[in-house]
Amino acid sequence: TIEKTLSIVKPDAVDRNLIGAIYQRFENADLKIVAAKMIHMNAEKAQGFYAEHEGKPFFADLVEFMTSGPVMVQVLEGESSITRYRELMGKTNPEDAACGTIRSDFALSLRHNSVHGSDSPESAAREVAYFFADDEIFPRS
Ligand code: CMP
Repeated sequence: TIEKTLSIVKPDAVDRNLIGAIYQRFENADLKIVAAKMIHMNAEKAQGFYAEHEGKPFFADLVEFMTSGPVMVQVLEGESSITRYRELMGKTNPEDAACGTIRSDFALSLRHNSVHGSDSPESAAREVAYFFADDEIFPRS
């Protein structure tokens, strides 16, 4: 099934000029970028995005980091894109991420882990809609 998933290139990666290198990984994996923009989130926007983590011990640090600089947000479309993108990213903690994954190659730490991806069809639908209106998404096949 062709799916859409929400991707974020986080502040640590934008700051280190890794946008192009990470976009290349998406395209090499046949994940099509069908929507994209650069934004700098405020606390309210980041808290809303990560609402499921509210109350966890790392929540404040997560919001502080995600508002520390601009990010690239994009919608990736492709066959089984949700799980395939998660495989491409590797495990959340770069120390656990397999060789050749985005986080293994670029991430600095569990917090500064370079990329985010939706973890299920339900969160993909919510997260895509959180950042993009329907007329900002350009599906292709
Ligand atoms: P992400 O996929 O964006 O979803 C939530 C983020 O919280 C996750 O990537 C990590 O960067 C961060 N995170 C998860 N667990 C922890 C933790 N134990 N300590 C600090 N940050 C965490």
